[in-house]
Amino acid sequence: MSILAKYAAQKGVLDGLKAAGANPLDVHFDAVLSPTEGLLGGRSVILLGTNNYLGLTFDQSCIDRSVEAVRSQGTGTTGSRIANGSYDGHCKLEKALADFYGREHCMVFTTGYQANLGVLSTLVGRGDHLIIDADSHASIYDGSRLGQGEVIRFRHNDPKDLHKRLKRLADVPGDKLIVVEGIYSMLGDTAPLKEIAAVKRETGAYLLVDEAHSMGVLGATGRGLAEAAGVEADVDFIVGTFSKSLGSVGGFCVSDHPDFDLLRVVSRPYMFTASLPPSIIASTLQALHRMEEEPGLRTRLTSNARRLFDGLNALGFTTGPEANPIVAVAMPDRECAIAFWNALLQGGLYLNLALPPATPNNTPLLRSSVSAAHTTEQIDTALRLFEKVGREFGLLETPARRARA
Ligand SMILES: Cc1ncc(COP(=O)(O)O)c(C=O)c1O
Repeated sequence: MSILAKYAAQKGVLDGLKAAGANPLDVHFDAVLSPTEGLLGGRSVILLGTNNYLGLTFDQSCIDRSVEAVRSQGTGTTGSRIANGSYDGHCKLEKALADFYGREHCMVFTTGYQANLGVLSTLVGRGDHLIIDADSHASIYDGSRLGQGEVIRFRHNDPKDLHKRLKRLADVPGDKLIVVEGIYSMLGDTAPLKEIAAVKRETGAYLLVDEAHSMGVLGATGRGLAEAAGVEADVDFIVGTFSKSLGSVGGFCVSDHPDFDLLRVVSRPYMFTASLPPSIIASTLQALHRMEEEPGLRTRLTSNARRLFDGLNALGFTTGPEANPIVAVAMPDRECAIAFWNALLQGGLYLNLALPPATPNNTPLLRSSVSAAHTTEQIDTALRLFEKVGREFGLLETPARRARA
């Protein structure tokens, strides 16, 4: 009996995926050529599943800053900030993020995943209550497990259910922290943040918004959903990541809480892991400047997202409810989703295959993420391919049938 025998069910799923074609969990690019193009098996593919919302991974100024930093400061910090100290860049980036959000404090983490782990596990202690949306990202679930508090889920995007659950806690001692996401990572829908902020105010809970997919995407200056919804004053903690709009890796949390910096000595995912290398810090700082100085990136992103969303809906596919840069197409069943994903890849389009149980309502999804760097032609090529495969698979009405209807 092998020590990994307990994963027999997962092995079965993986073997099934491999048997159906390329393994979506292990796509191996020969090269990534730009934010929107890769080489796979010697063939060019359009990248439509990378969360590279502003297309900054190949921005020359970000690359230059990163190269300068690696040359002058070396390849890594080789330890955590509490042990090895902070580099100037860590502090500069924290100051820049705090300024960008108009907050007093910022802490940078080594990944966005660790930011949620580090913040949630420490804010919510024994006797406290963490109230999370049922469709929360794995990092929110894992952060809640790492903490000592009670974890309560409320129905996805349902402020009434949230209100009901908080009311039940009205006379229960302990702090209450509500956690929601700006744009949800699977369906691309936004949280009803105005209503959630009203519940927070009424019940005296704290509110944390994970803007991982909405930073650089929503709001007049790209601060995310809280800015777009006009409720920033109600949000106590904002978590974000560098791995999407900022094109690198890392995470952060900003807050005005006067004792926020205490987290630096109690948050294990901050204290017991190596800090980000200077090259990453330098490119991230520059990406933040680029995002601030070039709002046109966000305008292009929005119009590309709208084009894909409208195009897929016009073809007759079922997508998520909002025209955000995450555009997910619902598939009738798992086998169809796997086969469709393979057919798109064969046709030169790479996106994400998302299968139950990791998807809302256990719906298999083909998840796209649009970039400001996509050209109109690339979006249209993707649409043509979706249409071709959709017709071959019998998922769309034929033009003749549609004309008769
Ligand atoms: C909502 C949300 N939060 C946090 C993360 C983790 O971020 P990272 O991948 O940068 O660690 C993700 C990643 O996709 C996410 O979707």
